[in-house]
Amino acid sequence: MSEIITGVPRYKLNTGAMMPAVGLGTFGSDKYTPEQISAAVLGAVRSGYRMLDCASVYQNEDEIGRVLKELFSEGCVKREDMFITSKVWNDQHREVIKACEKSLEDLGLSYIDLYFVHWPFPNYHAPGCDGDSRNPDSKPFSVDEFMDTWRQCEQLYDEGRIKAIGMSNMTVSKLESVLPLCRIKPAALEMECHPSFQQEELFEYAKAHDIVPIGFCPIGSPSRPERDRSEGDVADTELEEVVKVARDHNVHPAVICIKWAVQRGLCTIPFSVKEPQYISNLKCTTEDPLTDEEMELLKKAERNCRLVKGQVFLWPGATDWKELWK
Ligand SMILES: NC(=O)c1ccc[n+]([C@@H]2O[C@H](COP(=O)([O-])OP(=O)(O)OC[C@H]3O[C@@H](n4cnc5c(N)ncnc54)[C@H](OP(=O)(O)O)[C@@H]3O)[C@@H](O)[C@H]2O)c1
Repeated sequence: MSEIITGVPRYKLNTGAMMPAVGLGTFGSDKYTPEQISAAVLGAVRSGYRMLDCASVYQNEDEIGRVLKELFSEGCVKREDMFITSKVWNDQHREVIKACEKSLEDLGLSYIDLYFVHWPFPNYHAPGCDGDSRNPDSKPFSVDEFMDTWRQCEQLYDEGRIKAIGMSNMTVSKLESVLPLCRIKPAALEMECHPSFQQEELFEYAKAHDIVPIGFCPIGSPSRPERDRSEGDVADTELEEVVKVARDHNVHPAVICIKWAVQRGLCTIPFSVKEPQYISNLKCTTEDPLTDEEMELLKKAERNCRLVKGQVFLWPGATDWKELWK
């Protein structure tokens, strides 16, 4: 291992905690094994990553926990210098305490820095299912059910087992209905965000409410599972605006997606198990910034292309995935 990357920008959460602007995504897209992902976590933290985006549904928190133990015991990093997230999966909305305890145990931690409600519905699909699978028990969004889940997160926060609570896969209208009811406000919002899907309204709404937006699929998730692929999807790394800026900076278009996200004010969580990739995804935020003109050009890459449509969470009677995003 050559250098340790430092100087990565950080954001202050409404809890006062600092969160790095780049974290390593840990969802293997049904393509990479837990061993490959935990090996990437090991290499990434040794290279300077200080944030990991985890979730129980990624089915690798125990492997990541083993690697964290190794990193802490070799003195590479201290627990307090890491920012680690996890998420409660949809089938555990009524048992959030139990779900969080399992993630804590698997990750080998006494607290999680930021714990998300992964989706605002208790609609379960099995990991690895195909895009046409439907669960007859799925239901539309319910403020009462969501708030019951949130209250359990608030209890975990009160007990110090999670240091901040986050929401994920929300919309402005859902946020408007739940934010006034939250005793502990969300500190961060995980949302799909990449040049072809910029979610300007949701991004601005989060900022205006002192919630740090965290963009997932920042590179347009080129390795995403089949269930998240549809006709008409665009590849962010092939967009003319992104390719032009990448050529001018002599870097891969993926790197431009990361620079753009961070300069825009997002935290971003690119996934990669490949060392040169994850190193460049972190390092690029410390050097050679995009110009104002390039940021303007990249605004034009918007194509309203949502990749994670969530159709597997539709309830009986609902046929269009857009129902999930009202
Ligand atoms: N909250 C949620 O509901 C939610 C949903 C989705 C994702 N997430 C989180 O967001 C993370 C990131 O999303 P994602 O994994 O779907 O997609 P992504 O980060 O947009 O794309 C990852 C892929 O991009 C390629 N890549 C990465 N760095 C590169 C580089 N420097 N140069 C060239 N190619 C590069 C790799 O493809 P190859 O593998 O082909 O090399 C990698 O597998 C996830 O891991 C997860 O932690 C959260």
